This record gives sequence, structure tokens and C-alpha cells, in this order.
Amino acid sequence: MEKKFNRTLITTALPYANGPVHIGHLAGVYVPADIYARYLRLRGDDVLLIGGSDEHGVPITLRARKEGITPQEVVDRYHTIIKDSMEELGITFDIYSRTTSSLHHETASEFFRRLYDTGKFIEKTSLQPYDEHAGEFLADRYVVGTCPHCGSDRAYGDQCEACGTSLNATDLINPRSALTDAPVTMRETSHWFLPLDQYEEALKKWILDGHKEWKTNVYGQCKSWLDLGLQPRAVSRDLKWGVPVPVEGAEGKVLYVWFDAPIGYISNTKELLPDIWERYWKDPETRIINFIGKDNIVFHCIVFPAMLMAYGDNFQLPDNVPANEFLNLEGDKISTSRNWAVWLHEYLRDFPGKQDVLRYVLTANAPETRDNDFTWAEFQARNNNELVAILGNFVNRAMVLTGKYFDGTVPAAGTLAEVDKALADAVKEVKAALSANLDNFHFREAIKDAMELARLGNKYLQETEPWKLAKTDMERVATILNMAINLSANIAIAMEPFLPFMSKRLAAMLGMESMTWEMLGNMDIIPAGRRLGTPELLFEKIDDTAIQAQLDRLAKIKEQNKIDSFKAAPIQENVDFETFMKADLRVGTVLECTRVPKADKLLKFLIDDGLAKRTIVSGIAKYYEPETLVGKQVVFIANLPPRRLKGIVSEGMILSAENADGSLVVISPSAPATPGAQVK
Ligand code: 2FM
Ligand code: ZN
Repeated sequence: MEKKFNRTLITTALPYANGPVHIGHLAGVYVPADIYARYLRLRGDDVLLIGGSDEHGVPITLRARKEGITPQEVVDRYHTIIKDSMEELGITFDIYSRTTSSLHHETASEFFRRLYDTGKFIEKTSLQPYDEHAGEFLADRYVVGTCPHCGSDRAYGDQCEACGTSLNATDLINPRSALTDAPVTMRETSHWFLPLDQYEEALKKWILDGHKEWKTNVYGQCKSWLDLGLQPRAVSRDLKWGVPVPVEGAEGKVLYVWFDAPIGYISNTKELLPDIWERYWKDPETRIINFIGKDNIVFHCIVFPAMLMAYGDNFQLPDNVPANEFLNLEGDKISTSRNWAVWLHEYLRDFPGKQDVLRYVLTANAPETRDNDFTWAEFQARNNNELVAILGNFVNRAMVLTGKYFDGTVPAAGTLAEVDKALADAVKEVKAALSANLDNFHFREAIKDAMELARLGNKYLQETEPWKLAKTDMERVATILNMAINLSANIAIAMEPFLPFMSKRLAAMLGMESMTWEMLGNMDIIPAGRRLGTPELLFEKIDDTAIQAQLDRLAKIKEQNKIDSFKAAPIQENVDFETFMKADLRVGTVLECTRVPKADKLLKFLIDDGLAKRTIVSGIAKYYEPETLVGKQVVFIANLPPRRLKGIVSEGMILSAENADGSLVVISPSAPATPGAQVK
């Protein structure tokens, strides 16, 4: 029989405090973790949901340098934004702390020191890139230079983005520091390594033999790491920002951010429950679940477990690591640096009171088994066609009909007809499926199950038509509405983990003072005679204007990114002067300009070229209203052979420049010129 646990420690990946959280973080980690925690609490389990900000690491120091502030100021800013916005979304952390806390520094320090004292590390000396100017060692990413493969002069010490090759900082030609642009030298430095190879067998046994039930993406990634063979990993860095290495003579060195961050789970549990935290970490009766994104799998399944094995002292390994894949946004990878994201704090500002809508869409479309795409069109459709039209609609009908026929007091049910019994059975079946899906971290399926209750409700009212029976059989109407109100109570419970704000409002309307998972599946939750609250609409439609505003914002960002990443095309091969002079460039005045029928790119010009009127067809229709060009002067090539375009003979070519975003602008003289003037 499967082992039953009733104490669960849930951890959520600590987000880097160098930016706010976005929908990718939410869909991957925080919403599923919160659903799970809420479900276990409804079941009456002892559960902790642990979170916090990851406040160390090189990107934070770089951001601080760029903004001219301290790393502490950077993390203070984002920690607050992240903490407040997650709370507003209803993520029920028992604690949301931070890795700059003194308790975390002590805990991580002590952890390192114990491994150091018991000989669990090896010390190795190597040459590392060094910036003489800044007086600092450089992480590979902060060395820039010329790529030895493609010659791009913007390659990074870990990768050339022009040709995609993986690099080491030492591969670069003319390596320079990204911090100061100073030439990079190599300096000897020593670091501590955790010899992961020594834990390989134990890890294989634990994961490959012991956890075949893990999600296939997680198990598969672990297997390929383990099959490749593990290597010692450095656990310290030459950096000023972080937890100082607690060893004499290690000045200027800190713990590698991936060494201290997972210890943050322990520190934060300790901060919350100083006297009994060990119960959650060292008692085999506790089940530990790590919610993370797929890029964190190796650290949670290989590195951190090896650290815990090295530490000993009964630290328990995670029981499951239900890592998710990635969420994309409108077809593109979410990126903090490119601002391609829907930021939680901005969503909450733009859609006040609509926390549940975001939670619903991110769960219904969660990237559980493969990368998924978030689109604003789907967001709107799921709100309007599902939350409003199915869930909100059913509850509203049940409430309004009870108001109309029984003055808002729940009527007593009489003898149940077949259709009523079938409904009661279906509700029990939904509970079984929903519980199983939640137990197995299948939240996408689970939210469908919960939604099924509302679908059943609509179908039931459609079939029983109490509004027709009201004239003839009030006893029957009473039974139907008793069922409908009790089904609404089931919805409030089943949806609590997913849509807690809606659930709370619905429970208040139904006069439910508490709810448990045990109650779910019963049709006698709301007793006859209970006076219901005033019916309120649980969801409202989201109109096109709100959606268009979000799409416009993204379009602007896309344009800005194109401009930011614009690189002028390389200069072409030389042409000799005589060849160039053969092109007869002239100024002309636009006499007429019209769109070419059935050609959305083309404009037809009639130009005064100083000698005659000439017709030129040009592919700039997307960028100009034709009438705005009449009277303007343009530069054109006068001696190209005539060409037929869409049946029009074009006698030359109007010159335009192509911008970073692909738009075209016509080239004009800077002051009025005589029509026909030659351009020299
Ligand atoms: O990938 C990240 O965003 C890391 N900050 C996650 C750390 S998880 C844990 F180890 F703290
Ligand atoms: Zn390259």
C-alpha cells in the first residue's frame, strides 16, 4: 500500500530578486504550489509552504553597477515587489523570506563549515579571468571578445550569440571585461568543490530505482545527467556579494549562489518555526515536495541532494520534484532582460480584483508536460466563455431562482428523482477524479474536473427546467434548487485551491462558515432553511479594449527590442567610382500618389523630373498615406530600365531607408531642390 503522509513541506524555487515575477514563474512554480498547499490544508494535513527571494549571484551585482546603486538596494526593491504581488495573488506562503537575512547567512555558513570540517570538499586551483582595472575575478558571462568561430566581436565568455557556439572565456580572442572594458588577464585562484562523483551511486539508487513515479521530464533529465557521469562542482566564487566563505584566508570569496539558495529553504523554515523546524526536514514521516521550473532540475535532484547526503544528520531528500516546462508569451520565449513578459504587479494594477482569472488561465494552460503559450486572446476567451458563461452563470441561476421562488431561503429537498440521483453520483465521481489528479500534480486536469461541477449544474437546470415547473409542482422545484445550491457549495470547495477569491465570495453568499475536503461530494452541505446572501456576479466579461491595450503594450516592446538589438548591416564590397557615377540619381517632386489596386504594398507616383512627368511604382504603401506625399520631394534613380509591376510600367526607383523595425522612410532633400537636380 502507498505510504500515507500527513505532514508535508512544500518549497518553491526562490526567484532571483533582480526583477519582478512574471506569468512564467507563476505558471511554472507558484500557482501549482499554492494549489497543492491549499488542497492539503483542506484535507486537514499539516503543511508548510515555504518561499523567499534568492538575493545573491552575479546578475544582481551587475544590475546594481548599471544603476549606480548597491546590490542590497536592488534586492530590497525587488524583494518587496515580489513579496507583495504574490500575496495579492493569494499565494499562501507560510513564510516568504530572503537569502540576505542574517539567519540565512548563519545557516548557509554553518552548512558549508560542517562539510569543510568533515573533509567533504576538495580544493582546487585554477586560472580564472581577472579584471585588473576593477580588481575582480570575472564570471565567464562577463568576459566579452571576438568569437574564434565566426569572428563576431560581441561574443560572451560562455557563448557566442551570433553563431550559437558554447565557449569558455579562454577561447575568446582579445578578451575584455564587460564591467570596465579593460583587457582580461588570467589569475590563479583556489576554490572548494563538492565531488558529485562520490554521490553518483547513491543518487542513482535514490532516483533511478526509487523514484520511477516522478514526472517523465524530471526523471529523464536526471537519468541523462547520471548516465553522463557526475563531476566535482565548485561551491565558491570570487565575488564580493554573497555569503562569505567561512574559512580563514578565504577573504574575497563567497558561497556559489546555487550552494546557498537551496539552503534558503531550510533557513526560512527555521525562521518560521525556530523550535520545531527539524520536524519538517529530518523526520522521515514528513514528505518534502520541491516546486521548480525545468531549468532548476539538476540543482534540486542532483546537487542539493548530494549536499544533504554530505551533511548527514538525518536531512531528508525530496519525495517529489514536480518540475514544469516553460510558458511562452504570444509565441516568444519570456525574457526579463528583453521585457517580454506579463509582470504580476502590472497585471494586478491593470486587472484589479481579477486574481482568479489569471490563476485560472495559468492553470488551465499550465506547461506541465511541454512548453505552452500564453496569449491574451486565450485569456479573454477562457474568462468570457468559461468563468463567466459556465461557472458564474450556473451559480447565478441557482441563487436567482432560489431568490425568486423561495425568497432566498434554501428549500427542503423531497424525494429524489433519477436525474437528481445521477447528479449526486456524478459529483462524487468528480471528487474522486479531482483528488487523484491533485495527488499526482496534474493540476490542468484537476481544474477541468472542478469546472465539470459547473457544467453538470448547467446541464441539470437545462434538463429539469424548474422555471417551467413553478406553476405546477413547487415540491419538485424545491428539490431541484436544494440540489443546485448544494452543488454550488461543492463548487466553492472544489475550486478553493484554484480560485480562492471566488470561493470565498461564493461561500459567503451560501453562508458557509468553513469548508473541508471531506465535505466535498455531499449534497447536504447547505441545510434547508438557510437564508442565502444577496446574489452577486462572480465573474464579469473582459472586453476587447482591455485586451487590445495589452497587445499594444507588447507590440511596443517588440519594436523597442528590434531597435535595441539593431546592428547596421556590414559594409558591402567597394565599387569603383565610375560604376557608381553611372547611377543617375535625381530629385523629383511628387505630383500624384495613389494606392495600386490589389497590391497592398505598392504606391504609384507621378513625378515631375524636370524634363517630363514620369511614373514610378514603389513598395512603401504600408508606411505612408499616399496623399501625405503629394508635393514632397523624393530622390530617385532615373536610368534604371523600365519595369512592369502589376501592369504599370515603373520608370525608376524611389530611394528609401530601412529602419531597425523594418519600416521604410523616403529619402528627401533637406531643403527644396529644383526638380531634376542631379544628386552628387
Ligand atoms: O532559477 C532561479 O530563479 C533560482 N533563483 C532558483 C533558486 S531555487 C532554490 F534553490 F533556491
Ligand atoms: Zn561566433
